[in-house]
Amino acid sequence: MNKQLNDTLRHPEIIVKKRRILVGASVTLGAVGTIAAAVPFVDSMKPSARALAAAGPVEIDVSQIAPGEMTTAAWRGRPIWVVHRTKEELAALPKMESLLADPHSLTSQQPPDMQNLHLQEGFRAIKPEFLVLVGICTHLGCIPTYMPTPGSLDASWPGGFLCPCHGTRYDLSGRVLANFPAPLNLPVPPYFFESETRIKVGMLKDDKDQNWEPQTW
Ligand code: FES
Repeated sequence: MNKQLNDTLRHPEIIVKKRRILVGASVTLGAVGTIAAAVPFVDSMKPSARALAAAGPVEIDVSQIAPGEMTTAAWRGRPIWVVHRTKEELAALPKMESLLADPHSLTSQQPPDMQNLHLQEGFRAIKPEFLVLVGICTHLGCIPTYMPTPGSLDASWPGGFLCPCHGTRYDLSGRVLANFPAPLNLPVPPYFFESETRIKVGMLKDDKDQNWEPQTW
C-alpha cells in the first residue's frame, strides 16, 4: 500500500476536514473530468442557482473513454462515473460473488424500471462495457477512489473502488465487498443510450424514474 493511501486510511478525519473546503470546487456542474480525490458529500450545502438549473438530465459522450478508464460528470451536484470496462474486467466480475455483500443487487440501488442491467451476471449496466454509477459511498458519503488494477492495494484487492474515509471496498460494478462499513452497493442512476455513443443520465427513455432516489440520498 502506498504512503498516501496509508495516511488516508489511518486518518480519515483529516481528509474529511480538508475536503469539505474543496467540495464546492470539486464537482464542476456539467463538466466532464476525473475526480480522483476523496470528497465527502455535504448535505447541508445550499444549492446555487446554477446547481438548480443543472438538476435536469446530463448527456455524456462515452466514445472518448478508453477501455480501462473512467470519466466523471455531475448530475444534481453528485458525481456520475462512467467506466469503460475491459473484456478482462468483465470476465472477472462473475467470479467475485463469494466476496460480496449483495452480488445480485437485490437491495434496490438501481431504478425499478431499468430491467436490462444484467444484475444476475453482476454487470449492473445496460451495455456491460460501460458502467454508470453515482460515485458516493453508501456509508457516510465520501467519494471513493477508482483503482481498477487487481493487486494494486494489496494481494486481495480485486480492482474496483476504495473509499478512503473508512476503507470500504467496491468491485468494478460498484458492489460492496462483505465485512466493510458501507451497507449497500453504489447506486446506478437512471440513464439510457441516446445513440451508440451518448448516454443521458437522470431519466429513462420514456421519461420514467426522473425522481428516483437511492436509499442513501
Ligand atoms: S464513508 Fe466510505 S467507508 Fe465510510
